[in-house]
Amino acid sequence: MSVASVIGGTGLSTHAAAPARHSTQNAVQGASQLSCGGEESMKAAVQTAAQAGTPGRPPMSDEAFKNVRLLKGIPVDEFMGAMGLFSAATSMCCLECHAEDWAADTPRKITTRKMIDMVNTINRTNFSGRKVVSCWTCHRQSDRPQVTPSLDVVYGEPIFWAPDDLFFQAKGAPSPETVLDKYIQAVGGAERLAKLTSFAGKGSSSLYGGFKSAFEIYVKAPNQRTTIIHQELGDKTMTFDGKNGWLASAVTPVPVLDLTGGELDGARLDAELSIPGRVKQVLTQWRANLPTSVNGHSVNVLQGTGAGGVTATLYFDEQSGLLTRVVRYANSAMGRVPTQIDFEDYRDVAGVKIPFKWTFAWVSGRDDVQLTEVQPNVAIDAAKFGKPAPAVAPK
Ligand code: HEC
Ligand code: HEC
Repeated sequence: MSVASVIGGTGLSTHAAAPARHSTQNAVQGASQLSCGGEESMKAAVQTAAQAGTPGRPPMSDEAFKNVRLLKGIPVDEFMGAMGLFSAATSMCCLECHAEDWAADTPRKITTRKMIDMVNTINRTNFSGRKVVSCWTCHRQSDRPQVTPSLDVVYGEPIFWAPDDLFFQAKGAPSPETVLDKYIQAVGGAERLAKLTSFAGKGSSSLYGGFKSAFEIYVKAPNQRTTIIHQELGDKTMTFDGKNGWLASAVTPVPVLDLTGGELDGARLDAELSIPGRVKQVLTQWRANLPTSVNGHSVNVLQGTGAGGVTATLYFDEQSGLLTRVVRYANSAMGRVPTQIDFEDYRDVAGVKIPFKWTFAWVSGRDDVQLTEVQPNVAIDAAKFGKPAPAVAPK
């Protein structure tokens, strides 16, 4: 199986979402089937979208692609985010809607266009245009939404649905300032943070805990970061250079994707949180919700907003004060596109606690990263934070 080709990350896997939980057509799948096959043919279908568009600005969906009728005039990363939302909501691989030629209209693409129109109409005529109904509202990981309540579900184990809505400062919740101060203290304190100016790390990354690929990370304070997963079909590289962000991958219709809006904000957040000395300034409008629990641990919950429109919810272990989860949402034409990062295995690096293990989940893939070694305060070639080249399969 060539699971190595999967990319999680901001937007572009040609794979479907996580295993189907209650699709009427797909039985629950094992990780080996998640790729849904077809990476090779997908690769052959890669278009050179980056060449279209006006110089100086990334191409829009209808400039980059051939047959876009509804989701026009939006950045390509947002368009791909919408594709990820379709996959996640219906539990379909890209290839279950698409033919090998992405632009070709299949019966499911035609149905989907009707669905897009329907969703837009529902929101416009009932909710003054607010995007409160999405594909997920009905589909919830199934190709056919259910009509009748299932009593097994009603009386079964409760499912934890992460609070996906934006929240306000809750009465009785701690002040965001207190929680962030405790976090800075927990990772080593402002003084030690200021002394850690860069690090380079190595380890492995695997898809849903399966096949392992070599992984590298480069971080330079305050906000440059590059991660590279050496996959079978070529490297998957995510870079934020302090201002711009990119995702390069072999398995995507766009070889090097420019990050925009909320996805760009998200990449900036990931970079800043790698050496979190400026955590308070990274987002604005900080607010706290009442503490809750994640995986049996009490957590403080903060939310903040980024300049490009990202909303991020941060979960801090109540006892240790460490950051255990970030869920960030980028806006798209079809609803918010979530990315969730879960951190664990904090270890000491030059007096600062750095997570050595995390999972990076997006609507169409999840990478499980484990670092094995981290070198603090190393000189990193500036080119490491430049725009990545398109992925090339190793010979
Ligand atoms: C539920 C069906 C569905 C799924 C799943 C889906 N797509 Fe799409 N896709 C569409 C529809 C519909 C369009 C056309 C949108 C429009 O006309 O505005 C489209 C258009 C595209 C295009 C533009 C093709 C062109 O040249 O016109 C690309 C590229 C694409 N999708 C990639 C993907 C990828 C990658 C995935 C998996 C992450 C995916 N799609 C999942 C329905 C789907
Ligand atoms: C208001 C509820 C609702 C929303 C919102 C909704 N759908 Fe559907 N969708 C349905 C129902 C119900 C069916 C099954 C219809 C049938 O059985 O004839 C369906 C069927 C489909 C199918 C056909 C599945 C198959 O078996 O081939 C696709 C694809 C699909 N929806 C995609 C989407 C996408 C993508 C979105 C978001 C743009 C969306 N739907 C939003 C209710 C919804």
